Amino acid sequence: MNTDGRTRLNQMSEWTALAKHREELGEVQLRELFAADAGRGTAYTLRVGDLYVDYSKHLVTDDTLRLLRELAAATDVFGLRDAMFRGEKINTTENRAVLHTALRAPRDAVIEVDGENVVPGVHAVLDKMAGFADRVRSGEWTGHTGKRIRNIVNVGIGGSDLGPAMAYEVLRAFTDRSLTLRFVSNVDGADLHEAVRDLDPAETLFIIASKTFTTIETVTNATSARSWLLAALGDEAAVAKHFVALSTNAEKVAEFGIDTANMFEFWDWVGGRYSYDSAIGLSLMIAIGPDRFREMLDGFRIVDEHFRTAPAESNVPLLLGLLGIWYGNFHDAQSHAVLPYSHYLSKFTAYLQQLDMESNGKYVGRDGREVEWQTGPVVWGTPGTNGQHAYYQLIHQGTKLIPADFIGFARPVAELSDELKAQHDLLMANFFAQTQALAFGKTPDEVRAEGVPEELVPHKTFRGNHPTTTILAPELTPSVLGQLVALYEHKVFVQGAVWDIDSFDQWGVELGKVLAKRVEPALTEGAEVEGLDASTKALVATYRELRGR
Ligand code: F6P
Repeated sequence: MNTDGRTRLNQMSEWTALAKHREELGEVQLRELFAADAGRGTAYTLRVGDLYVDYSKHLVTDDTLRLLRELAAATDVFGLRDAMFRGEKINTTENRAVLHTALRAPRDAVIEVDGENVVPGVHAVLDKMAGFADRVRSGEWTGHTGKRIRNIVNVGIGGSDLGPAMAYEVLRAFTDRSLTLRFVSNVDGADLHEAVRDLDPAETLFIIASKTFTTIETVTNATSARSWLLAALGDEAAVAKHFVALSTNAEKVAEFGIDTANMFEFWDWVGGRYSYDSAIGLSLMIAIGPDRFREMLDGFRIVDEHFRTAPAESNVPLLLGLLGIWYGNFHDAQSHAVLPYSHYLSKFTAYLQQLDMESNGKYVGRDGREVEWQTGPVVWGTPGTNGQHAYYQLIHQGTKLIPADFIGFARPVAELSDELKAQHDLLMANFFAQTQALAFGKTPDEVRAEGVPEELVPHKTFRGNHPTTTILAPELTPSVLGQLVALYEHKVFVQGAVWDIDSFDQWGVELGKVLAKRVEPALTEGAEVEGLDASTKALVATYRELRGR
């Protein structure tokens, strides 16, 4: 029993039933499952919004799915979901509500935190962002010298960078091509250097994005960006026209020297990795315009509503979360690949890494005790076709089980030339071929039938049975992006709920931050730093020598 009265996950009868079922299924073969059920390819599919989700190529039967849903019921996933949507403080270690869903709630919705409806505030900020984005896009908002703003540099890290940077790439075809957007996150000075070296400071707007406004990387880069600007424009007053802030911390924003009139607010109930549809998305909104941004929010809302109301049997985030549990907890899979077949989604998996791994990379449960089961997987992947010529070998013939999501689109983006649009079918032929090859492989007999010499038969055999989910959408639009992101947000939620961990804190990033602060004087001044271990001490000494100090 947990200290909060919940039966420990691995002692629940539903958990044990799954373990037993896994044993009974043994090495169930996808070939057999498809042979036994001609309708599987359509029966094991769901739709949510514009997304067609095929989960037929999973190592599951109706019994598996039923047992997984029973586990979800026993762990009260939907109870926690309802508490989240109601604004209850389900982030218990930080005593915070978890309300990214309020960021896309309609104007007339009522969602209360501590007795206050947060929805009017959300829309007030969205309206303020829209007004500002329109002014920048139209040229009404000029720089200090009166020049039009042509470059926007978002300075932020983690959730204050990955979301808008990813979404800007995804929605490139919808952006104002006369604007240059760049994203600076790394405290390595090279990042800022490369981002601004060819920009005219008089035409550059910096958006300083930081929920806390205390993050050392962001504050350091923002300070250097200000020096770069002032070195060219020579007037402190320029800061007001070239710097805006996105934050929950007005005091720190003012301390930094940004007028709080130029601050776009959000709230402590928005987690950093769940924040790019808040003020953190300002750079994206400038790039795609407020209307497209709202279309994206509508897409989020479609999946929010689905997750909130769809029954367990047809609830897609629930299903995807449970499939991840099936592999992570009952097949010892350690990682999960997300493989988009769209160049525009090149940063999507990097974004998901924070969403998933910062949320569910925890070994302590909500009740403060160590868990006795696997939690979040290693999430990885890059656009599929490139991966095919790099690491797919290991997925096909390696020794590890790697469940994967394949994400593709029926239509190429509208602005491609006809010749480039024609390439889309080749791209998608690869998309379909890969999940087929992964699922069904190639038997030794099939290889032999091709006349392959016997000694090469094992090398050219594909065992198959690699599970994949296929997510197919008509076209990559702002709404579809919102739908995809919300789908993964809620999938991560489901898994955290089952594993009984707090998916909304991130204490695991703190120690490194503290130690970096402590080590820095040793590097710069050669200070004797207490508590340095022998390895780090020697490394620091070597560093100083090589650095010429
Ligand atoms: O260090 C991790 C983290 O706290 C993330 O959770 C967050 O997205 C990122 O740092 C940036 O934080 P902030 O927006 O407060 O600068």
